[in-house]
Formats: sequence, C-alpha cells, structure tokens
Amino acid sequence: MTQFNLSRALPGDLSHIKTEQREGVLTITLNRPEKRNAMSVELTFEMVRLLEAVAVDESVRVVVLRGEGPGFCAGMDIKDFFDSSERDEATLRAAKEAANHWRVRLLRNLPQPTIAMVHGFCFGGAFGIVEACDIALAADDTKFTLSEINFGHFPAGPVAKAISRTMSVRAASYYSLSGRTFDGPEAERNSFISRSYPAAELEAETYKLAAELATKDPVALQFTKESLQYVETMSWDAALNYNAAKFAELKVRQQGATSRAASVASFLEGKSRPGLGS
Ligand code: COA
Repeated sequence: MTQFNLSRALPGDLSHIKTEQREGVLTITLNRPEKRNAMSVELTFEMVRLLEAVAVDESVRVVVLRGEGPGFCAGMDIKDFFDSSERDEATLRAAKEAANHWRVRLLRNLPQPTIAMVHGFCFGGAFGIVEACDIALAADDTKFTLSEINFGHFPAGPVAKAISRTMSVRAASYYSLSGRTFDGPEAERNSFISRSYPAAELEAETYKLAAELATKDPVALQFTKESLQYVETMSWDAALNYNAAKFAELKVRQQGATSRAASVASFLEGKSRPGLGS
C-alpha cells in the first residue's frame, strides 16, 4: 500500500489521523483509539489541513473515512469542547469553527466521492461526519446514539441538520430526544446510512465499492455529487437550468478524456449495457 504523500501540501505532520492510498482510493483513518476517536482540537485542525489538500489532489479518486480501534468515532471530545475545556478562548473559538468547517463544507464538498465505513460505535458529533459523506456503510452491530441528551446537551453544530436531512422527522426526534441506541440495520431502515453488513464483511464491501467508484469518470462523479446537493433546494425550473449548464460544463471538463465518448460509442455499437452496470 503506498503512503499518501501530503508533505508538499501539508505544513506539519498528522498525528491524530492516518492516511493510506491504493489505486486511487485514499483511506483517512481517525486515529485516537485510546480516546475512542473523539474529535479533539488537534484532530479538528488536522482534518481541515488534510481535506484542503485532498480536494486538489487529482490522484485521489475516492475517499474512505473510518476509525481506528473499537469504533468509528465517539463524537466531539467532551473534555476539549464542552464546559470543562481547559483550552484558551481563542483556540476554542477557532476549533469550534474548524469542527463545523471540515464536516459541513470541506468533507461534503470534496470533488471525490466519499464513503464512511462505520463500525463499533458512532456517537453525537460523529453523525455529522457520516452524513457529510456521500455513502455510508456500517456493520450490523454498530451502536448509533444521538447521545447529547444523555449529558444534558442537544444535537448542536451540524448534527440536528445532519439527521433532519437523512432521517424522517419521526426517527430524528425519537432518537435525539430519547438518546436510545440503534444498530446498523435500523440505521439503514431509517436511511441514516446506505447499507448495513455483517461486521466481518464491512471492510471488503467498502473497498469493493470504492474500487468500483474509482473506475468511473471523476468529473461525472463530481457533478453527480454537486447536482444532488444543489438541486435539493431549487425549484424544478432552476434545477433543469442548473443541470443544463452543468451538462455544457461536463463536455468542456471532459475534453481530452475519452471515457464518456468511448462508453457512449460502446453502447451504440451494442458492446456494453450501462443499465446493467457495465
Ligand atoms: N470525549 C472525550 N473523551 C472521550 C470521549 C469523548 N467523546 N469518548 C471516550 N473518551 C475517552 C474517555 O474519557 C477515556 O479516556 P481516559 O482513558 O483518559 O479515561 C477513553 O476515551 C476511553 O473511554 P472509556 O469510557 O473508558 O471506554 P469504553 O470503551 O468503556 O466506552 C464510550 C467508550 C465511547 C462508549 C464512552 O467513552 C462514551 O460514552 N463516550 C462518550 C460518547 C458520547 O456521548 N459522545 C458524544 C459527544 S458529542
């Protein structure tokens, strides 16, 4: 496995995140297993630097985001970000902004497709990571908890919007008011995640999907993400206009790349069946 070379793009090392790249698939691993990958101030600033570099790295075709150790992520670092924080006020203010920025804008707006691979547990602020990824796969035995209410808090930062955007109002209210835990199949049923798999299959299924996405046209992937994201709040007419403009841009961006012309020609010659996945 080759190491993702961030040395030119990143001032300083990453110590709370690991990266590995293989055949266009970049894995970003939250790497604080001793603190259950809770998002500390340092991890937050590192994610900003990392994602800014990934966004302009054309060798990255797909991003997988996962957690080291027993679970995906235990949410915000309660010691760093809540009442007991010993951080100075300016650092804390910058970190709070950065914590929103990397999940809500940088991760969501990466040009590459992103897959959250969720195992073990996913609590509180981690919902904001999972929702910002395009696709979320989880192990059946994952414990999902909107735990804020269990310590006298509420789903702050991006979390309330993240659950409102993915789950029904009934499900979002039920889980965030009760603080009850649900598992992978239940997360799939309430559409917080895309698919749930037996724990032993999760990793293989994740990388199988990532490899599949890495074979697809990168500009078409980016425009698929963008179209889904932006048309959501547009009128029908605005959406059709937006997509017509993006279609024209697609042709310009794909100039020199043969993939779309070649695959359309292949279909017209009866050699492929895109409707069946090829
Ligand atoms: N913030 C800060 N530290 C955290 C953390 C969090 N969100 N979650 C876990 N940790 C730390 C613990 O304080 C402990 O640190 P220590 O070893 O220095 O005492 C370490 O991680 C291990 O946690 P521990 O509770 O001993 O492990 P566990 O395996 O028994 O339980 C959890 C793990 C994640 C279930 C439990 O720690 C927990 O409920 N954490 C809070 C999760 C939460 O509600 N997050 C939402 C925040 S928005």
